[in-house]
Amino acid sequence: MSEGKFYKKIVCIGAGYVGGPTMTIIANKCPNYKVTIVDISKPRIDAWNSDDLPIFEPGLKERVEKSRGKNLFFSTDVDKEIAEADIIFVSVNTPTKTFGEGAGKAADLQFVELTARRIKENSRSDKIVIEKSTLPVRSAEALEAILHSGNNSVHFEILSNPEFMAEGTAISDMEYPDRVLIGSKDTETGRIARDELVKIYAHWVPKEKLITTNLWSSELSKLVSNAFLAQRISSINSISAICEATEADIGEVAFAVGKDTRIGEKFLQAGIGFGGSCFRKDILNLVYLCEYYQLNEVADFWKQVITINDYQVNRFVKRMLRAMFNTLVGKKIAVFGFAFKPDTGDTRDTPAIYLTRQLCEEKARLSITDPHALENAKKDLDGLKGIEYIEDPYSAAKDAHCIALMTAWDEYRSLDYQKIYDSMEKPAFLFDGRNHLDHQKLFDIGFNVFPIGKPPLLHH
Ligand code: NAD
Ligand code: UDX
Repeated sequence: MSEGKFYKKIVCIGAGYVGGPTMTIIANKCPNYKVTIVDISKPRIDAWNSDDLPIFEPGLKERVEKSRGKNLFFSTDVDKEIAEADIIFVSVNTPTKTFGEGAGKAADLQFVELTARRIKENSRSDKIVIEKSTLPVRSAEALEAILHSGNNSVHFEILSNPEFMAEGTAISDMEYPDRVLIGSKDTETGRIARDELVKIYAHWVPKEKLITTNLWSSELSKLVSNAFLAQRISSINSISAICEATEADIGEVAFAVGKDTRIGEKFLQAGIGFGGSCFRKDILNLVYLCEYYQLNEVADFWKQVITINDYQVNRFVKRMLRAMFNTLVGKKIAVFGFAFKPDTGDTRDTPAIYLTRQLCEEKARLSITDPHALENAKKDLDGLKGIEYIEDPYSAAKDAHCIALMTAWDEYRSLDYQKIYDSMEKPAFLFDGRNHLDHQKLFDIGFNVFPIGKPPLLHH
């Protein structure tokens, strides 16, 4: 039990897109707990302690300011904070492995293992260790083996508590979650630890939304949730290709299909494909797991979700090329949006990266604009020539032969497209990778408009 004015001390290892916002909400909702987020990256921690937070997420800044310095702290003193903690969330990154066995598929668990070893070395009292990172099934077993190795008499109880928030809506996803999932061992110590975590969430999450399962179900449910969500996107995107071939309209098809309550309306927005740090990585992880257990048909099924996602970008670029007279050499293309979705500056695995690389290979000139992601875009495209990064969309589009819209930022709907059209080369093309704009209005202005999964609107 913690000393002083707090009931318990929570430490979160990893101050990223998940660790920062999730712990901020816990600190907001549970003033009787001291919450400290630690990270090995000093610039990240410095940013969390400043007015300029390291990630852009609507509503986050106010919530950080509400608790920071009271019961919410950010620190690089990982060892000291581990030593003092009662409850430790592990929220470090688990990217796809890029080397050795399982490269390109398996999760790279080096950061998780380093964290586990550090927890073991610095613990003198019993602790609950919670997997917040997305991990392969049965990771808790490995964590436990590391934590209980050697002659340490400290007891660690491992829980799985995967995070389901989406970027851009992280705050409402966490304040009003569809569910909170807690996996534990079915032992006396497992149940005690589980109840400690339930107690934290019960500060604001209704009881019926707190789901408890065994450890492996919890770990697997996280991978499966992301796989199902991504699968819906690939399903509708595959149908968008049929729509383009047959002059059916993907918006109308998605509407009609989604009205079946068994199918549902959400996550049927056709587009250039899914991006973000999770979907591709977690499906690859699931595929690797299936192959490990020799479930090859199951692995093939899920692989196809990624194949269609890649196909969607390739198709989009081919369509641009064909529409613009089979050459893009020297043509200026304005890329509207680089973030993988609106309301985030995150560009991890954004389709815009694949698009810009392919357009560069076609020797096009690019001007990329985005309200929050230009710094990340510069890093992602480091080394590629012929790219300008321009904050103002009007300047980005000036003298361009076409606009390729990659991110459904709200502000792109209210731009003066007549002014943009007047400043562009003619014929002017617009490829709407998110079906985000008013296509008829753009056509009436003079654009040749190419939506996804709908017939193009052409002036010739
Ligand atoms: P991130 O890269 O933004 O943050 C991870 C942080 O961990 C980094 O700041 C890094 O410096 C730190 N770190 C790495 N090793 C460390 C160590 N040994 N000690 C201390 N700090 C260390 O990653 P993220 O997006 O926050 O994702 C974290 C986990 O949550 C991943 O497993 C991811 O799959 C999962 N997840 C992410 C999202 C999302 O939307 N980003 C949603 C749900 C789940
Ligand atoms: C996802 C999951 O939604 C979340 O539950 C999990 O915790 C982390 O991974 P995130 O990647 O942040 O969240 O955003 P999400 O809203 O799922 O969008 C992912 C990608 O799919 C974006 O590129 C988005 O543009 C795309 N998308 C989403 C579509 O193309 N069509 C849709 O209908 C929905």
